[in-house]
This record gives sequence, C-alpha cells and structure tokens, in this order.
Amino acid sequence: MTSALPFLPFSKPTIDEATIAAVSDVLRSGWITSGPKVAAFEAQMSEYFGGRPVRTFNSGTCTMEIALRIAGIGAGDEVITTSISWVATANVIIEVGATPVFADIDPVTRNIDLDKVEAAITPRTKAIIPVCPACPSTWTACTPSPRNTICA
Ligand SMILES: Cc1ncc(COP(=O)(O)O)c(C=O)c1O
Repeated sequence: MTSALPFLPFSKPTIDEATIAAVSDVLRSGWITSGPKVAAFEAQMSEYFGGRPVRTFNSGTCTMEIALRIAGIGAGDEVITTSISWVATANVIIEVGATPVFADIDPVTRNIDLDKVEAAITPRTKAIIPVCPACPSTWTACTPSPRNTICA
C-alpha cells in the first residue's frame, strides 16, 4: 500500500508577536470568557457568512454536541463517523442518545471513505461527522455536503 501523505502530518503552530500581543490584550482586559473580543469575532464571522447567525463555543466537543442537538438528533437515530478521531467525536453522539456507526477510512488519504459512508446509510441515519485529517484532498467530495454533515 502506498500513501500520498507522511504519517500523522501534524505541524508546529505559527504563533507570531501579533498573536501574543492580542492574547495579552485579552488577559489584561479581564474578559476570559464571552467578552467584547468574542462579540466582535462573531460579528465578523456573521458578516463573512452573509449575515447568518454565528455563535462561538469553548471547545470542539461542545460545538459538536450543540450541532447534534440543534439538528434534533437523539434516541433511535444513527450518526455515521470514523473511529480515526479523538474520542469526543463518538462521545457526543452517545451523549445525545444516538448511536455512532463507524465507517472505515480510505487507506491513502486517511479520511473517511465516502463509499463506506454511503453503504452505512440506513433510514435511521440522521447525520454524518466525517472528520477529515487530510481535508483538502477530499474537500471536493465532501461538497456539497449532506444537510447534517458536521465537519469535526
Ligand atoms: C477530531 C476532533 N474532534 C474533537 C476534538 C475535541 O476538541 P476539544 O478538545 O476542543 O473539545 C478533538 C480534539 O483533539 C479532535 O481532534
């Protein structure tokens, strides 16, 4: 088997002086939760998305759980995802009372295999959380997304 990607292509984040200064501003302001910077960020994101409402959350886990709840997903529903992820991806599905259904990954891209996703769809499937460690290579395939696709 050949791979187009190096194994686990994590990279060192870029943290420049402007970023450090911006974080210092927040710490000095005394607002470390939902302060004016958060409101400004939500307003800018909303403008970017053509006026759609934008809300920020404190973590990826919280965001995925809220997304599932907003989509009305709960007991008796199935959510297709991958086990090649952090446990939070499956945990939030269980937390809302639904059942995680795992679709295997493509061994080359390591993204969830969309053919296996399609094969796993049942009348109880209400959402897909694909998790794309190499998103750009399958972004085209992910778009347009099924209505309840939550990109984790
Ligand atoms: C794919 C994925 N989903 C969710 C999470 C959880 O994010 P958070 O730690 O912000 O709750 C992680 C964390 O590593 C993740 O890698």
